[in-house]
Amino acid sequence: RILILDFGSQYTQLIARRIREAGVYSEIWPWDADPRAIEKFAAKGLVLSGGPESVHADDGPRAPGIVFELGVPVLGICYGLHTMTAQLGGVVEASDFKEFGYARVDLCEPSRLLQGIEDHVDATGRPQLDVWMSHGDKVAELPPGFTLAASTASAPVAAVADESRNFYGVQFHPEVTHTAQGQRILERFVLEICGCEAYWTAANIIDDAIERVRAQVGQDEVILGLSGGVDSSVVAALLHRALGDRLTCIFVDTGMLRFREADQVMATFDRHMGLNVVKVEGKERFLDALAGEADPEAKRKIIGRCFIEVFEEQALRFSDARWLAQGTIYPDVIESAGGATGKAHVIKSHHNVGGLPETMKLELVEPLRELFKDEVRRIGVELGLPREMVYRHPFPGPGLGVRVLGEVRAEYLEILARADHIFIEELQNDGLYDEVSQAFAVFLPVKSVGVTGDQRRYEYVIALRAVETVDFMTARWARLPYEFLEKVSLRIANEINGVSRIVYDVSGKPPATIEWE
Ligand code: XMP
Repeated sequence: RILILDFGSQYTQLIARRIREAGVYSEIWPWDADPRAIEKFAAKGLVLSGGPESVHADDGPRAPGIVFELGVPVLGICYGLHTMTAQLGGVVEASDFKEFGYARVDLCEPSRLLQGIEDHVDATGRPQLDVWMSHGDKVAELPPGFTLAASTASAPVAAVADESRNFYGVQFHPEVTHTAQGQRILERFVLEICGCEAYWTAANIIDDAIERVRAQVGQDEVILGLSGGVDSSVVAALLHRALGDRLTCIFVDTGMLRFREADQVMATFDRHMGLNVVKVEGKERFLDALAGEADPEAKRKIIGRCFIEVFEEQALRFSDARWLAQGTIYPDVIESAGGATGKAHVIKSHHNVGGLPETMKLELVEPLRELFKDEVRRIGVELGLPREMVYRHPFPGPGLGVRVLGEVRAEYLEILARADHIFIEELQNDGLYDEVSQAFAVFLPVKSVGVTGDQRRYEYVIALRAVETVDFMTARWARLPYEFLEKVSLRIANEINGVSRIVYDVSGKPPATIEWE
């Protein structure tokens, strides 16, 4: 396995994902992690990430000295290269020329890291690589023992190598997709230079997780709040395989799920996969609690509170249970703990089970805690969950409750669920579902005039929303074809009573958010 020390680059998570894609387990730790813990982790190689700082700053972060004493290969990326250079006796200078974006680097002395990996060959026969650069400082003098492996006009030192100690550094970012050969470079490092085996496959991740869950919970009983979302579904399938009947899932039908979703969840888990699923009918309770409330944040709080109440009541029935399973995944751990050292143990707030009664004394089982979303999806498919379930768009915890604008009523939910279903079904029919990151319908409780045949209609409005995004922090509205929108619009107007007008949302995020509430 590989240890990545994080110096604060926005790309650090990508490094871990790429290395795992190469089949090698990797973890991200903060750069100031305890040297003894680093030694004990026994990585076969270390990666020093990029970061926003400059090594000139007196208090700029430095890699712990142990990194260079373990006798294992080290790869420094951008800031990681700078600190390695400074710590091993070279010189780093502020560059007159800051470089962000594409660059073509020339390969110089052959290095084990880059040899034979190239995008082009120049007129003189010299190999070249297309890479993504982002830096303000540059290496001015190599540390003793290092040779120059690649260079460009603006970054004369684009890659370095000390073959005897297996220390390598690159000024560019191999982890971003813009560096065309980036995956090969990282594979070269972890598989060939570090000598790791490509063991981190879906089947092995599952075996490994099952073994750990069994060791953790022994013969005890476990309960899980199953929402039908990807993470809790994969936890359910995994724990069922590990523990069989000792897992009980509690599935709350809030009445605000997608069209026929409650039936699908029960069909998949209860009937098809044979899990113990307790389905709780909560629709009335949720709607009663929401009656008269139009404020989005108040609605979220009410839904969250109802959820906890229902879950608690149900959980109390399982007095033998000692463990509560949660679908926490690695990005939650990294983001909430400010690092992956596992010191903080934060309950994911939108899992809505943060307030269990003290008397229950449940401990947490989080079998996905080390996995990225794409890994969670891959093991979900391997565990036999339907692909449609595993590759579904994200769905907010409060469900359709925040997609009916203002007060939530049963009649509105019914119209919305059906309109949303038509939109999603047509996206799938036209092969557009996977092209967009998230798509859904929104119910607007305003009436607008329409006409069908000779009849005047005065009915509600449905807005369609589809976005493209990578991180859901910013988003672009999806340029869906007009013919497609026309087809969806006609179907909604024809098939659903109570809707006279359909609109398409052309707002980006910012200034809008993805959801309407
Ligand atoms: P916004 O609307 O903030 O949404 O642009 C960004 C992403 O977060 C989802 N979302 C939620 N998820 N509980 C959740 O579990 C919520 O209250 C919630 N609000 C928004 C939204 O669907 C989008 O994917």
